[in-house]
Parts: sequence; C-alpha cells; structure tokens
Amino acid sequence: MIPVRDRLIFALDVPTAAEARAWVDRLGDSVGFYKIGMELLTSGDYFRVLEELAGRGKQVFVDLKFHDVPATVAATIRGLARYPVSLCTIHGQHDGMMRAASQEKGHIKLLAVTVLTSMDRADLQQLGIDREPGEVVVERALAAREAGCDGVIASGQEAGALRQATGPDFLVVCPGIRPAGPSNDDQKRTVDVPQAFAAGADHIVVGRPIRLARDPAAAAEAIQAQIAQALRG
Ligand code: C5P
Repeated sequence: MIPVRDRLIFALDVPTAAEARAWVDRLGDSVGFYKIGMELLTSGDYFRVLEELAGRGKQVFVDLKFHDVPATVAATIRGLARYPVSLCTIHGQHDGMMRAASQEKGHIKLLAVTVLTSMDRADLQQLGIDREPGEVVVERALAAREAGCDGVIASGQEAGALRQATGPDFLVVCPGIRPAGPSNDDQKRTVDVPQAFAAGADHIVVGRPIRLARDPAAAAEAIQAQIAQALRG
C-alpha cells in the first residue's frame, strides 16, 4: 500500500540546482516525492540534485522518457538502478525495448508513456494509426504490463479505463491535475484531485498549481488534505 503522503509528486521543473534546492526548502514536509525531468537535465547537476533529494528523505521520479534500441535503454536503466530512484519513465511503443529495460530495473519501478497527452487522433493518424487515442492507451498499457513494466503515465481522464483493464496492482500515475474550474495554461485533458483518485490513480504529478501558488507549501498541503480525503471516501 502506497503511503498517503507519497501520492503527491511535485514536478521540479526548474533549470538550475540552486532553484531545485530552494524549492525543496520552501516545500518542507508538504512534499515527499519529486519528479526531475528534462529541464533540470541541462543544469549539469541532475545527479547531484537526485542524490540530495534522496539524502533529504525524498523519493525521486526520473522522468526522462527513454526511447532507443533495446540494448541502449537496458544499459541506461541498469546504470540508473545504481541511484536511489523510485520511479522512471520509458516510452511504451516498443515491446522489445520495454522487456529489455524491465530486466535491468532492479528496485526501480518503470512507467511506460503510452500516447503522449499532447497527441490527438490526427497525430496518431500521421503515424499510420487510425484509432482513438484512448483505445491505443489501454492496449499499450496491457503490452507494458506484459513486458514487465510496473505502470503507466496517463491523463486522469484515461485512469478509469486503465484501472479497469489492468487490475489493481499496475501503477497509474496522472499529470495534468488542475483545481476545479477553468484553467488557462497548456494542459488540456485535466482532472481535479478527487476525480483522479476516484478514477483509480495511484499518484498525481503536480507542477504549476503548486509552483505558481502564492503560498506553495500551503497549496501542497491543501492537495495532501484532498488526497487523504479522497482515499478515505
Ligand atoms: O505544471 P504541470 O502541473 O502541468 O506539470 C505536469 C508535469 O508532468 C510536467 O513536468 C510535465 O512535463 C509532466 N507530464 C505531463 N503530461 C504527460 C507526461 C508528463 O504533463 N503526459
């Protein structure tokens, strides 16, 4: 069972280690799980921040969405398994690549990215896939599970169908979480916190709703309270 306060993952989307550290200080105990991705990669301090987070008792989600020939991705995951990483993303289009990566994951839980939430039916059509994105998401999630992955990244709007198709033990991690009401940023297929957990999400990834809040730690605490309530309900 995942501890209630590990359900919220904060997207540490900042370009420098100094800013990353400042956010961890600012958020204190309100956040226990951090996602570090491509923006921080170019800081040159990616692995330093990773180890500092773990040293401060935080869990780390490496979101670099690996995608290459199976041997290369497998070697990358083997290397990453030497670090204190809890979750890591790989692309979910190629069964052989997911199988090879799964064999090297060690203690890391691998999450497959099925269809990027920025892609719609027309984008899939351009790739020669004449199907609804939702159908492809479920099919690729089943293939990821078969290949040894531990879960998927998915929009909250897809979480219910995924939970139904994959059963209780497969992780469903949902970004694109917004408070109820209109939002005006680039996320399109959003849900709010109670909706995500009602649909069966295991974790939510939240960036801007915390980062842009007037009091970010209070915003994170408010989300923690909503999660606790959603899981009790
Ligand atoms: O700021 P926001 O709450 O939109 O941050 C969401 C985080 O989740 C960002 O780091 C974004 O890159 C990531 N993400 C996403 N949609 C996906 C996969 C990852 O928004 N399908």
